[in-house]
Amino acid sequence: MSKTALITGASAGIGTELARRFAIDRINLVLVARRRDRLEALAGELSTTHGISVEVLPMDLTDAREREKLFHQLKEKGLAIDYLVNNAGFGDSGPFLESDWARQQEMIELNITALSHLTRLFVPDMVQRRQGGLLNVASTAAFLPGPYMSVYYATKAYVLSFTEALARELKGRGVRVSALCPGPVVTEFQQQANIKNARMFSGPMVLSAERVARIGYDGLMRGKTVNIAGLLMKLTIHPLRLTPRAVVRAVSAALTRNH
Ligand SMILES: NC(=O)c1ccc[n+]([C@@H]2O[C@H](COP(=O)([O-])OP(=O)(O)OC[C@H]3O[C@@H](n4cnc5c(N)ncnc54)[C@H](OP(=O)(O)O)[C@@H]3O)[C@@H](O)[C@H]2O)c1
Repeated sequence: MSKTALITGASAGIGTELARRFAIDRINLVLVARRRDRLEALAGELSTTHGISVEVLPMDLTDAREREKLFHQLKEKGLAIDYLVNNAGFGDSGPFLESDWARQQEMIELNITALSHLTRLFVPDMVQRRQGGLLNVASTAAFLPGPYMSVYYATKAYVLSFTEALARELKGRGVRVSALCPGPVVTEFQQQANIKNARMFSGPMVLSAERVARIGYDGLMRGKTVNIAGLLMKLTIHPLRLTPRAVVRAVSAALTRNH
């Protein structure tokens, strides 16, 4: 029987590439983000190329009522979700005390609350059917504090911790749970986060959105709980566990400070 994946943040960057990756395996799609035109263009491309069915549901995921509506709309249509991909997210940079509080709040609402809420809504049915998968897009930011991007890094630490915990709770219950942790990827993210420091987004650590989506998809299908994208990034992240936190904070600050 054909399967369906719900992908949030499918209108750009990693989310668009994840949609393309699921489509290659002929998995039907429900695409969610705010920009309807982008979602419709992608839906047109993927349904024509791969002969799959693609639903476009434009919405602002920071609104809890929209999230509830999404769940009930799909239930009413009798559309079972086999894979939930919580990819929508954004960052912000600059000293926390000078930050726009409304934007930090919106970030917490999207990166943490919406991701948890959608998981709570859609995963119980997967468990009941003893099949499916949850892919939460965290970041390598989850492994360290991020001075000058403090709230963003903290939201990703939440995503990683939450996903790992859930993976353990659901062990042996037929549902795969995976946290994808990419390093820098050139997308609209940098502009959204107001990152002017180009150093972080150049060099061998940077992967394409297409590559990251492939790694994320393969990790989900293999049930890899913590999936750090790229060998070089793995070699950088693992030693962090043994590095004194003061050093980690200092190096992180040098990377995240806007010049
Ligand atoms: N790029 C990186 O370096 C990097 C590294 C590690 C992790 N990540 C994570 O990867 C994920 C995808 O990021 P990306 O790099 O692909 O960024 P992106 O190109 O800016 O895409 C972000 C996506 O999220 C959607 N979105 C934003 N606010 C939304 C809202 N309120 N409601 C619904 N959808 C919303 C956007 O669509 P609309 O604007 O159309 O709503 C867009 O589709 C994020 O969780 C990010 O934290 C990115």
